[in-house]
Amino acid sequence: MAAALQTNIRPVKFPATFRALTKQSPAPFRVRCCAVNSAGKKRYNITLLPGDGIGPEVISIAKNVLQKAGSLEGVEFSFREMPVGGAALDLVGVPLPEETVSAAKDSDAVLLGAIGGYKWDKNEKHLKPETGLLQLRAALKVFANLRPATVLPQLVDASTLKREVAEGVDLMVVRELTGGIYFGVPRGIKTNENGEEVGFNTEVYAAHEIDRIARVAFETARKRRGKLCSVDKANVLEASILWRRRVAALAAEYPDVELSHMYVDNAAMQLVRDPKQFDTIVTNNIFGDILSDEASMITGSIGMLPSASLSDSGPGLFEPIHGSAPDIAGQDKANPLATILSAAMLLKYGLGEEKAAKRIEDAVLGALNKGFRTGDIYSNGTKLVGCKEMGEEVLKSVDSQVHASV
Ligand code: IPM
Ligand code: MG
Repeated sequence: MAAALQTNIRPVKFPATFRALTKQSPAPFRVRCCAVNSAGKKRYNITLLPGDGIGPEVISIAKNVLQKAGSLEGVEFSFREMPVGGAALDLVGVPLPEETVSAAKDSDAVLLGAIGGYKWDKNEKHLKPETGLLQLRAALKVFANLRPATVLPQLVDASTLKREVAEGVDLMVVRELTGGIYFGVPRGIKTNENGEEVGFNTEVYAAHEIDRIARVAFETARKRRGKLCSVDKANVLEASILWRRRVAALAAEYPDVELSHMYVDNAAMQLVRDPKQFDTIVTNNIFGDILSDEASMITGSIGMLPSASLSDSGPGLFEPIHGSAPDIAGQDKANPLATILSAAMLLKYGLGEEKAAKRIEDAVLGALNKGFRTGDIYSNGTKLVGCKEMGEEVLKSVDSQVHASV
């Protein structure tokens, strides 16, 4: 029978973070709708942005995993692949074509591989692949970036930290993603009155930007272990003084969350000294960029870590936090797990499809339990595999869950 699509007005279920966020939001919350086919399967439109370097390799694997896990939970996807970053520069001369923005905005969620590479490193700023990514974040208004860093028992020995320091680490960095020094004006490079060149940027946060990211963080902490650490540089920066004041003021609304504040230099130190003290960290755009890379190293490999970037109404953007790794691109050496786990975050945070998300998370653990490792997480006694084989093992693992549940 033809699977005729019918429009469905049933709202997509958003996780509590979203719902709580929107309760506070002055504007009415517009939920996204999905279609349901005649077989009763929900159907979502996903924009895939493979990008550069290892991006295309890891995205094609994550797509298969997403499809498989979805089909087991009555969820179908239609995928549309669009160019971004260096790939877009080569194709049409800009790092973020308008068609890519419209496709992303029209979809239910966006899954991105990676952007950047040596080839475009010397480009002028507006023609850098990274500029395309920042424009995409701004266009989708994804102000809340969730970056979990979890040390899996299977990978404790991949961490450069001592076993007793790394074991059991499970933290979440909530990074503000569309404000601060990344986007603040004035900015530029100019010649001053002495004829000397000066480069300058502006760290600026409006109260509403701090409040909305703080709410996401409080909600996130509430669903985790109830501890929130706000990281700033309030001993030096005015933007941080306001940040601390606003976050502290909101604490009254979340009496069940234990709030602390920490200067960023101390936080960088504490993350390697005793990372288990952290549950949820909330911080600005640039501190979040740096601390999330640091946190990823505790887990052994940046190749393991996913991320979710959420707005308060439109589609989310999901991407591994590793870069494009041009040195290993096209060699079947990349670790696809961060992108596969980003697909799980897409299901959970973007579409509210928690069961399918759990299937993917379990399948990743399944492949690791069988001893499969890509080069970045390899240790003696495990089985070294390439990107494709790791992907196939995860797929098999999703499959074996079917047999287990039949
Ligand atoms: C990240 C990256 C980006 C950032 C770059 C590629 C623009 O480092 O997602 O952490 O600085 O946000
Ligand atoms: Mg970064």
